[in-house]
Amino acid sequence: MTDRQPLTIRLAAPRGFCAGVDRAIQIVEEALGKWGAPVYVRHEIVHNAHVVSRLEELGAIFVEELDECPEDRPVIFSAHGVPKSVPAEAERRNMIYVDATCPLVSKVHVEAERHHREGREIVLIGHAGHPEVIGTMGQLPGNTITLIETVEDVAAFEPNDPDNVAFVTQTTLSVDDTADIVAALQARFPGISSPHKEDICYATTNRQDAVKVLAPGTDLVLVIGATTSSNSVRLVEVAKRAGAARAELVASAENIDWAWFDGVSTLGLTAGASAPEDLVQGVINACGERFDVSLDKIETARETVTFKLPRILSEPV
Ligand code: F3S
Repeated sequence: MTDRQPLTIRLAAPRGFCAGVDRAIQIVEEALGKWGAPVYVRHEIVHNAHVVSRLEELGAIFVEELDECPEDRPVIFSAHGVPKSVPAEAERRNMIYVDATCPLVSKVHVEAERHHREGREIVLIGHAGHPEVIGTMGQLPGNTITLIETVEDVAAFEPNDPDNVAFVTQTTLSVDDTADIVAALQARFPGISSPHKEDICYATTNRQDAVKVLAPGTDLVLVIGATTSSNSVRLVEVAKRAGAARAELVASAENIDWAWFDGVSTLGLTAGASAPEDLVQGVINACGERFDVSLDKIETARETVTFKLPRILSEPV
């Protein structure tokens, strides 16, 4: 018998690492194996401090800009993607570089280039300042792409030719907010070219779908992830909208304020696409030390996506 309070944890599946994050981390590990330490990484390879510090221990050095990297060491570009000027500069400096841009972000880059080639004016739906947005806007010269963050931005957008507009999106947005912005764009520009297939990636969509199913009726939802992680921040919003009494973003179990658990009998638990599974297990264990925990897995999809590593990693040194 235990006198601890019962706590049901509704555990989201899928949660945590996506195929693009897995690949980016593997790229750093393989690069360290191939070229030895140090290997430079431009920007956090994925937005997670635990991942970054583990890779630092293995010999990765994280910098924000290419000019902080020496010419004689390899450099890796993060999963979020980079403006075209970055690999161009690496080539000019004769550096070895490996691009860890998620293939689903690269797909958006290709779409933007195609629209530009075909003479369309491009709108990017996304969040200002996010590295993915900087990378996508930097695929084309100057101010070719207009960033739209809200439905209000749609009303303010004045294209040169309203009949020749296209949109692409950041991959890690809120599915529902984006649908509203797309609807506003389509209402204003009925002929607007849309992505062939959703730009919001499968991992973002699946994690939001799982939270929508588990959140109703929960007293608290914890999302494990970094404040810089777009898809993690979106999961908190989705949980609140879907009916969680409260939802919080935490980096790990150490960051939980246990006062949040007052009166909580049902907890929803998920993790953003850049948060490792051991952090999820850490939260479950920390709950187990305080409550009589029962786990209820809420599985809304199974993911089988994997991406190949860049060829340069398997070529001889
Ligand atoms: Fe790629 Fe989506 Fe993950 S764009 S890095 S699969 S969150």
